[in-house]
Amino acid sequence: MPFQLIHGDITKIRCDAIVNAANESLLGGGGVDGAIHRAAGPELLAECRTLGGCRTGQSKLTKGYRLPADYVIHTVGPIWQGGRSGEPELLCSCYRTALSLAAENGLETVAFPLISAGAYGYPEQEAQRIAVQTIAAFLETHPDMTVTLVIYDGTPDRRRSWYPEISELLDRAGKSGSGQSGSAFSGAQKAAKPRRRLFRNMNFAGAVRKETADTAAEIAADAEYCMAEPMPAAVPASLKEELLHADESFTQMLLRLIDAHGMTDAECYKKANIDRKLFSKIRSDIHYRPKKATAIAFAVALELSAEETEDLLRRAGYAFSPSTPFDIIVLYFIKTGNYNVFEINEALFAYDQVLIGA
Ligand code: APR
Repeated sequence: MPFQLIHGDITKIRCDAIVNAANESLLGGGGVDGAIHRAAGPELLAECRTLGGCRTGQSKLTKGYRLPADYVIHTVGPIWQGGRSGEPELLCSCYRTALSLAAENGLETVAFPLISAGAYGYPEQEAQRIAVQTIAAFLETHPDMTVTLVIYDGTPDRRRSWYPEISELLDRAGKSGSGQSGSAFSGAQKAAKPRRRLFRNMNFAGAVRKETADTAAEIAADAEYCMAEPMPAAVPASLKEELLHADESFTQMLLRLIDAHGMTDAECYKKANIDRKLFSKIRSDIHYRPKKATAIAFAVALELSAEETEDLLRRAGYAFSPSTPFDIIVLYFIKTGNYNVFEINEALFAYDQVLIGA
């Protein structure tokens, strides 16, 4: 997967280069800087002394010494001063210069901590947003690189507070681990009853797509009804079209949709956060059976509706379920029209779910 988020300690990551959140002296400090110097050993500091420091927003390369990583890229993030002193641009420059330095030196696997989000006081959500967007943009033109954002403090609740609507959906499904009990959609079922007829001719995904203004809870409640009783298959917009492709494999449907959407293969697999080599494997195997997260990544890249996504999933032997956090979160983004695979992965990461892509 070209870009992923993980929980962990960056000093333990085996890759071509880990990035250090250093200060302009490059002579070590606390936080991740201190951890990297401790793990690398004194030779790292000795080499840093020869570099003559580093300006904020810039990056410099050293060996990794006793670290599992071969190299360390030292970058200096901005100190947060309220956001009006060029901090966003400087933080963006940290990721861009570090990745450029890696690419120039043929380093293909890079791991970052969340630069400036510790002692330098950068608000974590904004720091993560800049990291994700800058890394994703860089990977657009460097499809052979793999980048990991390593989040050290495993306190998921803070990240979940960034997604109040998703938390509400998951709480109602009793899936957010917030101690809420009760059935998936308790309390909202009565509200959904009058509307049940509305979904008579839709499957779950179609129903979710249809309701644009509903509260999260009502949508979830309707979904329950849609799954509770066998619904007649949705009457597809063009029955002939549907029948024409009724027995398509996953690969056949994927390749047809890529063409139908006027996308190139590369545009699609990059937007899906799918590795180029894996895409080639899928393209050459008409019976390829992807993981569910891979199939959904392609649906997101193609910006399919919930119903079309369900059809593509079916070709790979999967279906949506309104009671799993992963499906609820993915459907929330599809229904709200946000097809940014990296933003979807930030939310999935906040709820300890599998990320989409491969
Ligand atoms: N692995 C991954 N991430 C880590 C680790 C680790 N072992 N240790 C800390 N972090 C995370 C923090 O949780 C934070 O999200 O790194 C992020 C950056 O925090 P800091 O290390 O405090 O770096 P920063 O905010 O950029 O401040 C840099 O602090 O340590 C000094 O010398 C450094 O002066 C510089 C300043």
